This record gives sequence, structure tokens and C-alpha cells, in this order.
Amino acid sequence: MSTFPKGFLWGGAVAAHQFEGGWQDGGKGISIADVMTAGDNNKPRQITNGIKAGENYPNHEAIDFYHHYKEDVKLFAEMGLKCFRTSIAWTRIFPNGDEDQPNEMGLQFYDNLFDELLKYGIEPVITLSHFEMPYHLVTEYGGWRNRKLIDFFVKFATVVFKRYRNKVKYWMTFNEINNQSGMMNDWSLFTNSGILKQSGEDIRRSMYQASHYEMVASALVVQIGHKINPDFQIGAMLAMGPAYPASPDPHDMMKSERAMQANYWYADVQCKGKYPAWLLKYFERQQYNLDITLADQDILRAGTVDYIGFSYYASHVVQASKNETVDFMAQDADTSIPNPTLPTSDWGWIIDPIGLRYALNWLTDRYDLPLFIVENGLGAFDTVEAGQIHDPYRITYLRDHIKQMALAVKIDGVRLMGYTPWGIIDLVSAGTGQMDKRYGLIYVDKNDAGEGSLHRMKKDSFKWFQQVIASNGDNL
Ligand code: BG6
Repeated sequence: MSTFPKGFLWGGAVAAHQFEGGWQDGGKGISIADVMTAGDNNKPRQITNGIKAGENYPNHEAIDFYHHYKEDVKLFAEMGLKCFRTSIAWTRIFPNGDEDQPNEMGLQFYDNLFDELLKYGIEPVITLSHFEMPYHLVTEYGGWRNRKLIDFFVKFATVVFKRYRNKVKYWMTFNEINNQSGMMNDWSLFTNSGILKQSGEDIRRSMYQASHYEMVASALVVQIGHKINPDFQIGAMLAMGPAYPASPDPHDMMKSERAMQANYWYADVQCKGKYPAWLLKYFERQQYNLDITLADQDILRAGTVDYIGFSYYASHVVQASKNETVDFMAQDADTSIPNPTLPTSDWGWIIDPIGLRYALNWLTDRYDLPLFIVENGLGAFDTVEAGQIHDPYRITYLRDHIKQMALAVKIDGVRLMGYTPWGIIDLVSAGTGQMDKRYGLIYVDKNDAGEGSLHRMKKDSFKWFQQVIASNGDNL
């Protein structure tokens, strides 16, 4: 008997802004991803003030799935995918975010896409907000600093819930909602919350305020979605990268514990419906006086999620700064400690398959909810040799992680719903804006400079994953 349950959701994951292209087609508005330039591992992406002539914006065309979706869905079906995770680009439905009426052409595009998936028996798994909010909501309202964003998001979610109530069952609210707290850098604040630091701003306070509004919005749409269709499964979506202490020094242990708390308190709110005690104390000490009303607290309690979706790429090592004895809040530098026991990817991400089993156990112990691994994969350089792409490194990465998933299910009793490797088809990297940082099992002929025919080719990993799915994970 196979380790994975019958109906296990083997699939692939992407996000609208990273692969659709068609940035101005069908009445789409400008999203925050449309104002981010291409970078690389050493050159951060720039967030420009609107669209600037002469800049390279890789998400504008991406891999042009918008015009290739039939061909691509056919390949997904050939791979045997049971589900396909993507997001609905908010700006296709509400181009500016604050309109009264949705854009019919945008709604029609997702009808067409979902019909095409369902034709092959592929279940859509949909993220409502994946780093692509309307740019207008940033320039006019200050992003998620503003409580008004709750209403705009609820309206957007309600429209798509109603429209696709018979086509989509699995939803997630905010992609990797916890990046902003874990990393606190410009990229994560902008992609999560549409926040650009203003001079003199207490950016940490703004981050907590924005996060609160997002969680209220998330809890509201969980309740609305369940009313629209009681069969909906609506999940949280976390970036899961466990923090390990750098040494047996209790300071390092406390630091890594606090790093876990500071990264995963979102799950406390979204799964348990309330803020953890340590964080309320922290808000008090900082004298933040956040706008968290009693009505908000009721909403949070009533809008807990059905499952936890999460991404897993890497673990992290955390080291306490010298003499630290009180807060143990981590800064980026405290979390960028190398792990001498493990290899890294070409982009320096620690490769740690056992960390995935640890994450599955940790989340189960803490929240006791079904789990869904909605992103995992290796960003790597690929080469085309005589029309073929041999990617044994990617197969090894995925195989090693699936083995740990199997142990978590079989030995640890974790309730796992599915597994959707990230970037099932090559796409634009969110972090660096590159095309050559490839995750796909399907190759797309396009490079960092934006050159290429957009022709699709199957990598070796395509055939391998096909056999994994066909055997329900037995044949690795
Ligand atoms: C997650 C995101 O952070 O990781 C994806 O949800 C992203 O959008 C993925 O693409 C991999 O990160 P990157 O920076 O390599 O694209």
C-alpha cells in the first residue's frame, strides 16, 4: 500500500505575476510586480516610481502564459498533475483595486483557465494575493498601512469566490504572509504589504499594523468563503524555514526560539484566532498602540483557516548577538549564519530535506491541522544540450524532500494533503527577477536579458515526476 493517501494532491505551483505576462492585456492594471526591475544574486531588484522607460521589468512578459495557457496546461496534464496552484492577479479583476465593478475580461480569463484545467481533471488551487497587489493601492492609500485595504481585498475575494464557487475548492489568502516579519527588508515589505519605507517611519510598527489588517482581511474572507460554498477549503500560506540554533549556547537557543515565534505568530493568529502572549507583551514594551479593535479580535477568532499551506526551501541558522538578554528579536544578520553540515544551492540557499520533516512535525504539534506543501524546489542553472535538459540535481533535490515527506506521513502521522513543487514551469524569480534561476520541470527558452523564443521543452525531471505521480509517490 502506498504511503501517501488516495487522492493526494500531487501538483505544481506558480504565481500569476511570475508567469502570466500579458501585463496590459484584457484590461489588467499595474501591479506592484510590474514596477520591479530585474536583478540577480548580487544586484537587488529596484522598485521604481511607476514604470520607467529603458528599465527591464521581467514580469511584464514573463513566460507569456496568458497566451500559451492551453499548450502549457496540456503539458501539465501529460505530467499527470492532480492539481495546479496559481494565483488570481488582483489587477486583472480590479485593475486599480478600488473600483466598484470588476473587470469582466479578467474574470473570463480565469474561467477559461480553470475550464482548461478541469477538462484534464486538474484541480485548481488558488492563492488570492501573491506579491501582486494593485500598485494604485500603494500610491493612493499607502498599501496595507491603511485599514481601507481590508474592504478592497474582501470585495476582490468575494467576487472571485462567487464567480468560481463551482470550479475552485482549495484557496489560500496571502502568500508567505510572514516574510515581512522574518526578513524585514524592502523587498518583503513591498511584496507582502505594498509598503515603501518613508523617512522617519518606524517601519517595524508599520509592518505589524499592516500584518494585522491582512489577518483581519484573511479571517473575514475565510468566513465569507465558507458561506458562499461550505465545501471550500481555505488555508493560510506561510514561508516555512525553520531556525536552528548556531550552537548549544542557551542564548542561541533562545534566539532561534524567538526567531520561530517571530516568523510564525501569523499562524497563531490564523489557526488559533488570537495573538500569542509574547507578541502582545512586545507591542506593549514598544508602545506601539496598534489599531487592533475588539471587533477585529472577534473576526480573528471566527475566521480561522482550514489548513496550512506552506513553502519550504531551506532551513536557517540563528546566532544570538553578544550580551543579548531581553528580546532576542532577530535581525537579518543574526539569521544568515552558514550551516557547515549542509550544502547550498547556486543562490546560497541551504539544502536540508530533513528540515522539511522537522517543519511538518513542528507545524502539526503546534496547530494540529492538515498541511499542504505548496512550494518546494531548487533554483538552478540549466543547460540545453542537443535539445535536451538533463537536471539530475533537481531530481535529487525533489526526491530527497519527498522521502522526508513520506517519513513524516508514515512514521510521524502528519496529515499531508499534497505537494506542489515550485515553478513547475520556468518562470521569473520573485527574489531576483531572473529567468536563469530555474525551478521548472518544463524549460522555457528565455534568459535573464529577456531573450528567447519562449519555446517549452521537457526536462529529465518532467519524466521523473510523471512516474512519481503515477505511482502515488512509491516510485522515486
Ligand atoms: C517564495 C515565493 O518566496 O519562493 C515565490 O512564494 C518565489 O513567489 C519562491 O518565486 C522562490 O523564490 P525565488 O526568489 O527564487 O523566486
